[in-house]
Amino acid sequence: MAITPSALLAALSADHAVSGAELARRLQVTRAAVWKQIEQLRELGAPVEAAAGRGYRLAWPLEPLDAARIRDGLDAATRKRLAELSVHWRIDSTSTELLRRASTASGIEVCLAETQSAGRGRRGREWQSPLGGNLYFSLLRRFDAGMAQLSGLSLVVGTAVVAALADCGVAEVGLKWPNDVLADGRKLAGILVELGGEFLGPCHAVIGIGINLRLPAAACARIDQPAIDLASLRRGKVPSRNVLAARLIVRLVDALDRFAAQGFAAFAEAYARCDLLRGRDLRVFAAGAVHEGVGAGVDERGALIVRHGKSTTHYDSAEVSVRAA
Ligand code: BTN
Repeated sequence: MAITPSALLAALSADHAVSGAELARRLQVTRAAVWKQIEQLRELGAPVEAAAGRGYRLAWPLEPLDAARIRDGLDAATRKRLAELSVHWRIDSTSTELLRRASTASGIEVCLAETQSAGRGRRGREWQSPLGGNLYFSLLRRFDAGMAQLSGLSLVVGTAVVAALADCGVAEVGLKWPNDVLADGRKLAGILVELGGEFLGPCHAVIGIGINLRLPAAACARIDQPAIDLASLRRGKVPSRNVLAARLIVRLVDALDRFAAQGFAAFAEAYARCDLLRGRDLRVFAAGAVHEGVGAGVDERGALIVRHGKSTTHYDSAEVSVRAA
């Protein structure tokens, strides 16, 4: 009989080691099949440790993503708005999946995965997606008024992520324009907003969110900027992934409805509360040049305002770094 990686993971524990023989007996496969699957889980980044002479154990307790538990965490109004909620064991990218479904989707769709084989970040970067503890989440929503009306959307998403984290007791986070979620000066979560459809007519947004809950050292080393996970931020006290996913859905559905009706203006205050660049000395990389100035908030479209002496510049798109004092 074939052994599924999720069944093997479920048979492991963080409390005690389980021997290869015991795993083989429970899963009704050979010890060689167990060993092979353990190696595959490790290659995907799962935290499976060998306990000398005693078998295998998990470096931390794993809570599998569970669509039913996520739905249980939604209020009735949000549950009604959700046309589809899918949880995958492994997928190329949750955002790529929703982009594939965009033309046929009938309403709001959410897709989550335990691991991604081709996780995508902004500006063509790869998003590290090891198995076993992080959140890889995408949401698809349609808008009637066209892509032209969606400026500031990614900042609005940032405020929803901050609110969802706060719902789970994680308050010490802020936003680095346009939408990096930082804690302790390092990246805790990333947001990728991809738009399709008409400029002035019906269109859709696929909002991809990756939150580091448990980032193994090997994955952390592959990231080209300082990164942090909730486990180190909160000394091992990591919120439930299913509860966090539910809070993300609730916060996003509400924020996107308000954004569709009122635009970015309705979020200006919420964004200002999370804005980590205001008043900071910045280096802005835009259109092949480097500009220095001081962060002065965002405008009504969500563009970054930078003060250079007495003048200001508004940047719709740029890479920003904070200059060391
Ligand atoms: C960034 O570069 O900061 C954006 C990262 C976005 C990552 C998430 S993980 C879920 C979704 N699927 C992807 O392939 N990317 C987004």
